[in-house]
Amino acid sequence: MGVIIRTIKDIEGCHHIQIVEKLIWADDDEILIPTHVLITVAKNGGGLLGAYADDGPAESGGMVGFALWWLGAGTPHGEQSQRLKVCSHIVGVLPGWQGRRIGLQLKLAQRDAVLAQGLTDWVTWTYDPLYRANGVFNIHRLGATCNTYYRNVYGEMQDILNKGMPSDRCQVDWRLNDPHVPRSLDDRPPPRTWDPAQMHILPVSRRTDGFQAPVETMLPLDGAPLAAPIPDDIAAIRAADSALSLAWRFYLRNVFEEAFAAGYTMGDCASLDGRGWFYVLTQSQK
Ligand SMILES: CC(C)(COP(=O)(O)OP(=O)(O)OC[C@H]1O[C@@H](n2cnc3c(N)ncnc32)[C@H](O)[C@@H]1OP(=O)(O)O)[C@@H](O)C(=O)NCCC(=O)NCCS
Repeated sequence: MGVIIRTIKDIEGCHHIQIVEKLIWADDDEILIPTHVLITVAKNGGGLLGAYADDGPAESGGMVGFALWWLGAGTPHGEQSQRLKVCSHIVGVLPGWQGRRIGLQLKLAQRDAVLAQGLTDWVTWTYDPLYRANGVFNIHRLGATCNTYYRNVYGEMQDILNKGMPSDRCQVDWRLNDPHVPRSLDDRPPPRTWDPAQMHILPVSRRTDGFQAPVETMLPLDGAPLAAPIPDDIAAIRAADSALSLAWRFYLRNVFEEAFAAGYTMGDCASLDGRGWFYVLTQSQK
């Protein structure tokens, strides 16, 4: 299957993005990103990339994924003054094309474009830490880190992936020249190794219906790495038991807020000893 990543600069490409948006998030037309905003971003130092596949839908001109970002400013953790950064707003791949490394190609192309622009090597974006694939993608595969957590940052969202849950998000930092950031598709920076005996692995229970449930516990914030469980499939949990999905939301909110306040950084997402995937938080260097 051939996939080409193209820079989008015209209205036709912006319409393709809207169609892909609708197919991923099942949004109303009313809450799609307007084409006049997309084109303005593209023409004013931001970025729009489309991934086009040979077997992509005719209605989107073959587009199966896209990335959107713009220039912004923010204060890096532990610093006092603002710096220029790239705010990466959305990366999306159509469900039937997910898992084929198209998201990875889009992020690598974004990295190349931002470095070629030459204004900054710092990119941030937000993601929902309950979605395990996104956590593995952002933290483990792309080498982003996180020590910023926002409660309900976008208010109550109406699309199918977000409806009915407070829109809490982790904001990640992607330092494009960090050695843990891949440079190409097959580049896998050296994995970090974690010894379960030397870390606090937070407990999780398995219910009779097969779903994992978080276990409330005092956070052992004594400086040893902390491993926080990620549910296997939050979409299935949301569909079957909305109270359980909310319990996961509030549980991870509490873990991240407490750990970040105590100086921890989420620096990896790892599969530990066959126990499933965990966010690994370590105490930041002072
Ligand atoms: C998140 C998203 C963009 C990832 O794109 P994708 O094309 O499916 O991902 P890729 O195939 O490029 O995978 C990249 C890496 O993520 C990880 N990954 C992807 N799917 C995974 C899964 N189901 N479970 C665990 N890890 C996964 C892998 O490490 C993979 O790298 P590898 O194949 O080299 O090991 C895509 O799933 C998506 O559009 N989801 C819905 C919209 C969304 O949540 N967007 C992000 C917030 S705006």
